[in-house]
Amino acid sequence: MSLTKRVKGFVKVILGLQYGDEGKGKIVDSTASKYQVIARFNGGNNAGHTIEENGKKHVLHLIPSGIFHSEIKNVIGNGVIVNPVAFDEEITYLFNQGINPKNNLYISNRAKLMTWVHPFLDKAGEVRCGKDKIGTTGRGIGPGYKDARARKSPLVGNIFSANFEERLEKFESEQMVELETYKQFGYEVSVEDMCIAKAQWFKSLEKMKEFNICDTSYLLRKELEKGSHVLAEGAQSVMLDIHFGDYPNVTSSDTNTSGVSVGLGVPISSIISVGGVIKSYSTKVGGGKFIARMEDLEIEKAFQKEGNEKGSTTGRPRECGHFDLFALDYAIFLSDTTKVYMNKVDICPAKKIKVITGYKDKDGKLMESYPFDLNDVTELVTKEFDGWGDKEFDPHDIKTFPIELLNYLNFIDSEISKFGARLAYIGTGPDRNDYVKWKV
Ligand code: IMP
Ligand code: MG
Repeated sequence: MSLTKRVKGFVKVILGLQYGDEGKGKIVDSTASKYQVIARFNGGNNAGHTIEENGKKHVLHLIPSGIFHSEIKNVIGNGVIVNPVAFDEEITYLFNQGINPKNNLYISNRAKLMTWVHPFLDKAGEVRCGKDKIGTTGRGIGPGYKDARARKSPLVGNIFSANFEERLEKFESEQMVELETYKQFGYEVSVEDMCIAKAQWFKSLEKMKEFNICDTSYLLRKELEKGSHVLAEGAQSVMLDIHFGDYPNVTSSDTNTSGVSVGLGVPISSIISVGGVIKSYSTKVGGGKFIARMEDLEIEKAFQKEGNEKGSTTGRPRECGHFDLFALDYAIFLSDTTKVYMNKVDICPAKKIKVITGYKDKDGKLMESYPFDLNDVTELVTKEFDGWGDKEFDPHDIKTFPIELLNYLNFIDSEISKFGARLAYIGTGPDRNDYVKWKV
């Protein structure tokens, strides 16, 4: 039996394959002109997608990375959680840059609405966890998705209903009871801070009403029927996925390819390919075990500095780690990635660098599958490579790459080809034009 293709257009996906911050924003922005629609399907303003253009840096949190292209429709899908205040701040930023997103931005009426209490609950939950905290971005993501799953919080489309305020008030009183319970664990918000947050939230909500809030699944259907090319822009990463990441040190959304269908309302068969973004080394922010973390903290510091590895949403320093092929195999399988974009090959402040090729268990045996509990890993198997330091090369010409870099890339390319993927593009600097096509 063959699947009937009901639409002329297609969806391609860009995802992070490590722990977020792989440079997805740059990849989406630099390939944007090939698409008619760019759509976010998961997460909220916990994301930080950085785009650099002529030395100017823009960071987007909630709005899709295609917003700088006025001819592209940008969609915030139903799988996204929307904080009106964050939305307002980002819109204001864009207006100040001379960008008017009113005509090319669409918000799903089924997107999850974050209330002004959710960020407080997120922070309270972290205080409650103490040393076991997840290290969330504090943006309210976990409590927001929890309440959406519990069918309690309103959806974005509900803001136009006649009984919205009444419904919200009821929900807010429940949230206040919940917030109150954290007092005993030392988390308290002053009445003044609550009043400020609430007033700001309602003010921003009014502004959000001026935007296109609609059934974006239907909008995408119409686009796909007429043959449009849609790019689904992932936030966070496969290794931070609620289902397959290192739970509970994960985010609360469906970050994986499967999240595209549920988070946009498009048929699975319309998704024709997945591109995964990685960096030439790995980084992680937040709690939980970072198994790949570099042992030499001086070298880690050098990567943090040269790679500007601090959170674009929270400003926290990112821990730096070796390139983890074993984790990548898992992420490529789960996401069905075939094309891999590797960023930041211009950053290599070490004489020797390592690639993790396997994990060993307590019996000293190589693990076959990615472990449920990272504490079961007793040893990492690594392969060492010569670093290329700050050797100069032309960012647009592979032929000028230092031999050490080529050796490294050839090895990774040949290993991931065993997982069914190939390197596609190499990111050689922060600017949207700093990349080069790989050999294949
Ligand atoms: P939350 O998404 O704010 O709930 O945070 C949960 C975990 O995901 C924490 O470890 C965060 O550091 C991590 N996280 C969330 N968003 C991002 C991101 O955009 N980049 C990197 N890590 C993230
Ligand atoms: Mg980021």
